[in-house]
Amino acid sequence: MPLDPQRFTGDLHVLRSFGASGVGKGVVRQAYSDADYAARQWLAQRMKDAGLELHFDPLGNLFGLAGEKSLLVGSHSDSQPEGGWLDGALGVAAGLEIARAAKEDGRPPISCVSFQDEEGRFGVLTGSDVWTGKLALAEADGFTDTQGNTLADMRAQMADLAGGFLPHDRFCGFLEMHIEQGPYLEEAGLGLGLGVVTDIVGIRDVRITFEGRQNHAGTTPMHLRRDAFQALSAFNTALSSRFENVVTPATVWTIGHVALHPNASSVVPGRVEFSVQWRDADADRLARMETLIKATAQEIAADHGVASELGPVKGLDPEAMDARFQAELGAAAEILAPGKWQKMPSGALHDAANLAAVMPAAMLFVPSIGGISHAFDEDTAEADLVLGLQVLDRAARVLAV
Ligand code: GLV
Ligand code: MN
Ligand code: MN
Repeated sequence: MPLDPQRFTGDLHVLRSFGASGVGKGVVRQAYSDADYAARQWLAQRMKDAGLELHFDPLGNLFGLAGEKSLLVGSHSDSQPEGGWLDGALGVAAGLEIARAAKEDGRPPISCVSFQDEEGRFGVLTGSDVWTGKLALAEADGFTDTQGNTLADMRAQMADLAGGFLPHDRFCGFLEMHIEQGPYLEEAGLGLGLGVVTDIVGIRDVRITFEGRQNHAGTTPMHLRRDAFQALSAFNTALSSRFENVVTPATVWTIGHVALHPNASSVVPGRVEFSVQWRDADADRLARMETLIKATAQEIAADHGVASELGPVKGLDPEAMDARFQAELGAAAEILAPGKWQKMPSGALHDAANLAAVMPAAMLFVPSIGGISHAFDEDTAEADLVLGLQVLDRAARVLAV
């Protein structure tokens, strides 16, 4: 049976029922949660029904394998704590449909994959970080989520299913389709616009703790306080101003997770743990920003009488996509959507950034309505999803031989 867009959109809608948030099409399906586990088991069954050979590796990366050597197509099926229905799931459903259609048509083999913990509950792109050798499994096992759970404990729940790590040379390359997650394709006014990704920006991420003195909010005079929240607030302001001479309009940084202790209105906060994440296409700039973050944390901590502690800096360097794979995606886009596609960098991270280190890799973007993602109301017109599937499949046919 040829590529079947309805079977693909049908799979996508079933996938969003695992961890459905009840708000729009949003999902709550963090890596290793019950919903993630159930979604992976459903995906495994769909792969098996398609005649693909199942393989879970020690992280829970799920492969549907075809042939001895094949093109790999996929993405991830875990979500952010509050996620949309397409981030990752789109590329997984596309990989499944393209692998299934190739098998049914007797075409050169295509395998599909759903990577684990792309959204970084524990690391950065944990599943593909470990599989591609950027991160040692023993180190990853010690990583904790914001609740203190270790990766080792979480992945042990899936240990009964796990085989070993697959050799990379089993695959001749990797294609990933994804929503853009930003505003540029829509702003370009291309209508049914597609993006062929040229580069994926680099990222750094660190957790910082300020430890002050918990005390009574009514009786502790302002000049005697060692208030962890005031230190964080000052850190944020100082950092933005110190970054001014270092960043470009494309650089981004985010304090996205804050845990204030004890988080009560009548208590001077004694401790705050928070994340600082920064992204840029230039690895030197990422390093300069790291130096500023460390120095600012130390200075602000000293000014506010709190102790500062920085965890390990995790991250990934900027990565270029393979030129031949990009060219095939562009050629397929030009046939199916002439004049309605563009080359563009990715400001979001993707498993393709890791895969690029071990095999040729490239990505195709479809537009995100309103540029919204990592939120329940993330969405894309179904016509764009289907066009993306068709373009990806056309390129995959050429690259799979
Ligand atoms: C991946 O979802 C990212 O945070 O870019
Ligand atoms: Mn994603
Ligand atoms: Mn994401």
